[in-house]
Amino acid sequence: MSLQTTTIDIAHLLERYPSEDGQEALMGLLQDIQEDLGYLPVEALEKVSRHLKIPLSHIYGVISFYAQFSLTPRGKNIIKMCMGTACHIRGGQMVLDEIRSYLNLNGTDTTEDRLFSLEVVRCLGTCFLAPVMMIGNRYYGKLTTAKVRKILKSYQR
Ligand code: FES
Repeated sequence: MSLQTTTIDIAHLLERYPSEDGQEALMGLLQDIQEDLGYLPVEALEKVSRHLKIPLSHIYGVISFYAQFSLTPRGKNIIKMCMGTACHIRGGQMVLDEIRSYLNLNGTDTTEDRLFSLEVVRCLGTCFLAPVMMIGNRYYGKLTTAKVRKILKSYQR
């Protein structure tokens, strides 16, 4: 018997996927949890494992294969800052430092208010815009430290 208490309620998501669908339901259910909670907490994965009768180790294997899934809480806005060669030689590091400093990231990837998460990527395929970042699906190019501050500020309103 476990004395652990949990605050993660995913019953409304589990009921969308019949237990007997097992493996077939796994991706859809993980996507729904990721969308609903913003990440995949361990407690939720344990419930998925019991509900679909799939070993937890297999579920972790699936999660590690897909970048869309995260095991830690992520911010509402995902910033992808490019540090590929073109962006790096055009001042990408200064822009990256400014993002970290402006958002007070202090060695973490997600802001305390969970408004932003920062990822460093190797090329966004838009080198002509270097240095460039994406927030969600939107590209922001030819960044400077002043420009990036203004952009981030616009998301804080
Ligand atoms: S190197 Fe940054 S977009 Fe290609």
